[in-house]
Amino acid sequence: MKVLVEKNYDEMSKKASEFIAKEVKNNPNTILGLATGSTPIGTYKELIRMHKEENLDFSNIKTFNLDEYVGLDGNHPNSYRYFMDEELFNHINIKKENTNVPDGKTEDLLGFCKDYDNRINEAGGVDLQILGIGSNGHIAFNEPAEELPSNTSIAKLTEETINANARFFDSIDEVPKVAISMGIGSILKAKKIILLANGKGKAEAIKKLLSSDKVSTRLPASFLHLHPDVTIIVDEDAYSLMK
Ligand code: PGA
Repeated sequence: MKVLVEKNYDEMSKKASEFIAKEVKNNPNTILGLATGSTPIGTYKELIRMHKEENLDFSNIKTFNLDEYVGLDGNHPNSYRYFMDEELFNHINIKKENTNVPDGKTEDLLGFCKDYDNRINEAGGVDLQILGIGSNGHIAFNEPAEELPSNTSIAKLTEETINANARFFDSIDEVPKVAISMGIGSILKAKKIILLANGKGKAEAIKKLLSSDKVSTRLPASFLHLHPDVTIIVDEDAYSLMK
């Protein structure tokens, strides 16, 4: 596991976007695994800038997102499909049909989950996965628990995550309690992974992740220790408990 400590959020975002841009330039057919949340917004902004100012080309890029709230359709402003369209896809030359976000309104949740992993595999697998981390150590909606799913499945959000995500909704009651989420095994199949974290709120999770190589379902991000090519990009605040 490689760790890059950047001065602040902007520098973290810049480093992450350079990482992604390098992949995209090396292989114009790259399959990107994408994350939502506040962490990657700066990275996506920088990718948009590179597209507009430096002609970074996404015309043959495919993407698969980690997760989506069950019950929200893609037009709902809090859905992850809407987020991706607004924060990235609408501003670059990616083909919409090449972008995949789980369907929160599917009538066959279990079938959808199974099919999502198949679709990723059939596309050739994710080349570069971008991850955030929850303050409780979750990745995607894989919350600390006694057991973790390997494949894409239906995830129940913990109280902590519902509280953390309430800031995006008018009231906490509107936060969906269930999501479709790629599993730990699905995530670990990516050829390369970068995990981003900024701010003091992530310092405890980053400390737990980096101060031991043990794997625990109580810290879902710790499964990244099993992967041969992971780069953690953090700002100084997120790294502050390591000093
Ligand atoms: P955040 O969420 O980027 O909004 O902090 C990250 C996560 O929960 O994985």
